[in-house]
Amino acid sequence: MSIRIVNIVGTRPNMMKIAPIMEKMAKDEAFQPLLVHTGQHYDENMSEVFFRQLGIPEPDYNLEVGSGSHTYQTAHVMLALEPLLEELKPDCVLVVGDVNSTLAGALVAAKMLIPVAHVEAGLRSFDRTMPEEINRTLTDHISDFLFTTEESGNENLLREGVPQEKIFLVGDVMIDTLLRHRDKARALNALERFGLEPNGYALLTLHRPSNVDEGDVLSGIVDALVQVQEMLPVVFPVHPRTKKRLEEFGLWAKLSHLSRMVLTEPLGYLEFLGLMQDARVVLTDSGGIQEETTILRVPCLTLRYNTERPVTISQGTNKLVGNRSEDIVRAVREVLEGEVRASTPPEFWDGKAAERIVRILKERL
Ligand code: UD1
Repeated sequence: MSIRIVNIVGTRPNMMKIAPIMEKMAKDEAFQPLLVHTGQHYDENMSEVFFRQLGIPEPDYNLEVGSGSHTYQTAHVMLALEPLLEELKPDCVLVVGDVNSTLAGALVAAKMLIPVAHVEAGLRSFDRTMPEEINRTLTDHISDFLFTTEESGNENLLREGVPQEKIFLVGDVMIDTLLRHRDKARALNALERFGLEPNGYALLTLHRPSNVDEGDVLSGIVDALVQVQEMLPVVFPVHPRTKKRLEEFGLWAKLSHLSRMVLTEPLGYLEFLGLMQDARVVLTDSGGIQEETTILRVPCLTLRYNTERPVTISQGTNKLVGNRSEDIVRAVREVLEGEVRASTPPEFWDGKAAERIVRILKERL
């Protein structure tokens, strides 16, 4: 009898994580992998493009929950998933990352006594105002297999009382995907499309509520960008949440009039990776990008005051700069004037994380 696993994705960053896992499971006859998309992200450029570019099979089920408050999203995933799991009777539910869909999926499975595997377990920002911190902490404590990306994850889980035998340091599946697609991304030549020179531009992403939901904070970041684009061109693929806020706070016009600010829709995985590899500096509040720049050895300035991924600072190229205008500008200047910091790939960020996860599940389920 094959091991039936329901894999759950909901948002853009979930897709790079699920891709190598689905692929490894599909190649092994011991598994019957199924894919459920919660529909938390649904736009072509927030969802479908990733399925195509990363070769993820069409989801077997789409719960179509769409946007809404955290409670709305979480509750709707739960309500739609319960009858599905009742019908499918999987041997395990696998969730990735820290989004609302992750917690919702884990919670339904745990209540039905279905073993839960959490990929990217143990990360902690110690900031409970981040919705992701709630999601990841709760998901970890109802999971049976906790697959961690870095040593700090193991330490956090042990400190919180999670038994050692549930914790597996396997590395980073997002890096599996990155290593696999690096050359393909370069071949797309996204730089040309935006008229950029290798090493001659900054790449920016921004979407955390703490940066974009308050007018004065967002306005301070925009002030910083006015100065940064005087130093070098800035490419900014704008997340839908951020676009909405920029318009609401009357900042969109200001940004779009800047001569060296390149505003675009959210990009596909390959286009974005292509831009990231050749950037002089990346400014971001994303979690995954801190990891990707560490492997690409591109300086990363994180517009937050904490990170749940400390190895990207201790071994990588990442630096926390917060969201105050003058701090951002100073940090960019320092990068442009300084040497690129050396970085050592963290343990198991070697393209084989999915292989380890699948092997462990096969042995134990
Ligand atoms: C979610 C995750 C966040 C992750 C991010 C990656 C949670 C709590 N947050 O944040 O951890 O880093 O995804 O992008 O799960 N929207 C669209 N089209 C879409 C999806 C969203 O227009 O396909 C707009 C909607 O107006 C929506 C807003 O973006 O209200 C926010 O979407 P939501 O899924 O609530 O959170 P994200 O900010 O994307």
